[in-house]
Amino acid sequence: MKIETFKALVVEELGDKQFKREVTPRKLSDLPDGDVLVQVEYSSLNYKDTLSATGNKGITRHYPHTPGIDAAGWVVESRDKQIKEGDQVIVTGYDLGMNTAGGFSQYVRVPSGWIIPLPTGLSLKESMVYGTAGLTAAMSIHKLELNGLKKDAGEVLVTGATGGVGSMAVAILSRLGYQVVASTGKLKEKEFLISLGAHEVMDREELKDPSAKPLGKKRWAGVVDTVGGETLTTAIKTTMDEGSVSCCGMVTSTDLKSSIFPFILRGINLLGISSAEYPLSRKVVLWDKLADPWKIDSFDRIHTECGLDQLNGYIDQMLKGQITGRIVVRLDT
Ligand SMILES: NC(=O)c1ccc[n+]([C@@H]2O[C@H](COP(=O)([O-])OP(=O)(O)OC[C@H]3O[C@@H](n4cnc5c(N)ncnc54)[C@H](OP(=O)(O)O)[C@@H]3O)[C@@H](O)[C@H]2O)c1
Repeated sequence: MKIETFKALVVEELGDKQFKREVTPRKLSDLPDGDVLVQVEYSSLNYKDTLSATGNKGITRHYPHTPGIDAAGWVVESRDKQIKEGDQVIVTGYDLGMNTAGGFSQYVRVPSGWIIPLPTGLSLKESMVYGTAGLTAAMSIHKLELNGLKKDAGEVLVTGATGGVGSMAVAILSRLGYQVVASTGKLKEKEFLISLGAHEVMDREELKDPSAKPLGKKRWAGVVDTVGGETLTTAIKTTMDEGSVSCCGMVTSTDLKSSIFPFILRGINLLGISSAEYPLSRKVVLWDKLADPWKIDSFDRIHTECGLDQLNGYIDQMLKGQITGRIVVRLDT
């Protein structure tokens, strides 16, 4: 098959800390070397993409660059015998979309060690409704359970609940039978969160406890925190004895202020989540869970689909914390 050009969102550095984003024709020779060429059918928008798309050099060192840490599509060429032309595959994380041209493109070329076969029970589109956000939510819940969280233990708090990771965590926890309390700054989205299975929706302001008290009233059996900062501090000091708090995000701050007391007086576990570099074999286990026993029933409600041409607007909205649910990018148009 001869591919002359294809479309990709390209971010260019203009100088003076200014960056321009434009859908641009690309050639296969523009892609990095790799064992597997994938024709991307769907990608999705994650917070990290907004940083890469706006010139954050902690994420992407060199421009011009195509962001997109997620991609799902068909294998077009493969130098790996285990991966065949025509296979449906998922790629999330590792260096995709960071310093390797990413999924906001009709083609990606990646190492075979990043490739996940699409699990039975999931369509390419559903895999990108989950995307890195769904995988991160699944990792958080998996780690909470490994550390003792049980369905009858009490309420589980999800912060940043209308965001990608947050909405996925609400939907998966509720699918698994947990009692979910969704914390949000968008109370107008209460019905959306209830439709995902939240049993209570609370204003995120209620979660902030600026007092210097080292411990608060015990409430949470477990916490999926996606925002960090003061919210995470309060979550740690209001978690019940031997409960766990997973921590993946830094939307509000990269600082963590906490005393030692929740840890030594209540036995709280603080669980770090790093989805990008999670070993492939363990990612496969979680994707299998997402495809079957943990499969959510709210795919339609939880996502908005857009084309490459509409992505710029959603990137701006996500930077302002205005997105509800997941943005799935369709590449075949
Ligand atoms: N460690 C990992 O492996 C990993 C993987 C994926 C994502 N992440 C991180 O997780 C975080 C969430 O990612 P995402 O893709 O879900 O982003 P997202 O879709 O933009 O969601 C972030 C949510 O945070 C809440 N928020 C925004 N501004 C806030 C503020 N000032 N105070 C409190 N809450 C605020 C909003 O939810 P409400 O309006 O509902 O409060 C927003 O929807 C990001 O920091 C991202 O980098 C980490």
